[in-house]
Amino acid sequence: MTNHEIAELARQYVMPTYAPREIAFVRGEGARLFDADGNEYLDFVAGIAVCGVGHAHPRLARAICEQAGQIMHTSNLYFVEPQARLAEKLAQISFGERSFFCNSGAEANEAAIKLARKWALQHLTPKQRTIITAEKSFHGRTLTTVTATGQEKYQKAFLPLPEGFRYVEFDNIEALEAAVDDTVCAIMLEPIQGEGGINVPGERYLAGVRRLCDERGLLLIFDEVQTGIGRTGKWFGYEHFGIEPDIMTLAKSLGGGFPIGACVAKGDVATTFAPGDHASTFGGNHLACAAGLETLAIIEDEGLVANAAAMGALLTERFSALAGEMAAIDHIRGKGLLLGLQLAAPVARELAVECFTRGLVLNAIGADLLRLAPPLTISEDECEQAIGMIAQVLAEVA
Ligand SMILES: Cc1ncc(COP(=O)(O)O)c(C=O)c1O
Repeated sequence: MTNHEIAELARQYVMPTYAPREIAFVRGEGARLFDADGNEYLDFVAGIAVCGVGHAHPRLARAICEQAGQIMHTSNLYFVEPQARLAEKLAQISFGERSFFCNSGAEANEAAIKLARKWALQHLTPKQRTIITAEKSFHGRTLTTVTATGQEKYQKAFLPLPEGFRYVEFDNIEALEAAVDDTVCAIMLEPIQGEGGINVPGERYLAGVRRLCDERGLLLIFDEVQTGIGRTGKWFGYEHFGIEPDIMTLAKSLGGGFPIGACVAKGDVATTFAPGDHASTFGGNHLACAAGLETLAIIEDEGLVANAAAMGALLTERFSALAGEMAAIDHIRGKGLLLGLQLAAPVARELAVECFTRGLVLNAIGADLLRLAPPLTISEDECEQAIGMIAQVLAEVA
């Protein structure tokens, strides 16, 4: 089928929750994508910060095929070896001690919210049910996680929303302190906001949040769905800020493109759920966990966390220099390979469309903001190609 034929079929039969370009990728290789008409692209979106090890990594493809040929799913009524091994691996590379597995970021956050509320029931007062989240945050699209998401535009068509959420300005410790009253049990934040605009908090903010949680006996939940698994140049975003949360959620890159989510916790929080409290039919199945294990092994063996840091530094340096030369670029922000290119004018969508036609896949997340989130495998040459094309197209459209 051609790009157009696939688009026509989808337009007829798929609910229009997205407004895709008339492109259907049918093959990938590393940071390269190929569409149904045979066009080649350089991928600076990576399936929205998902395909950390690049497309069609031979080791990941082999691990998935081998596991599929053995056994894919048995349910959680029985022990699952890859699940136990993946939980052990996450405990080795993070602050966490135990994991609950699910299938997406929203589900991981649902698990975190339920975990925090149950822990609060056992350790805090009966009034303490409220979770504070940040304005401009993004935590998912289920009814509860869209309520946790501090953006009204995602919520307004779906009222009534579940109770028990309160929003404060991100990176404002005074606002947070003022919002904590005797009904709050937890604070839930992305360490670096992704969808909300690649917002990196000031160096001391998250340490201040940790201190506030410790003083008031509250849980700190980090949504690392976008920032986790090497994306920011460290295994997890919290490592940039010298503190640890009590609960962390993961998804996106964890399976290298295979759907899997995880809610990771430590201490007595990690042993709060008892049989029957929470569950997922597919969560932690053999196939998803085999994909997760191999993804983490590839990231380790190929030094991709360090590569994310190095390529992020290169992109930051080169775009910062360009910002000095070109009025069209305001600045670049972010960490590792989760970067926001702030433009001086609202031309991000036009820029992305034009780059697309020239073979570079970009994601505009605001009228004047591009998110750069290539695979963690991206090379210096590929970064230079993207920089060159963005600069050239910007010079033309701005
Ligand atoms: C920080 C964050 N949390 C949660 C989610 C939701 O993840 P999913 O789409 O897998 O449900 C996203 C998705 O973009 C995200 O960026």
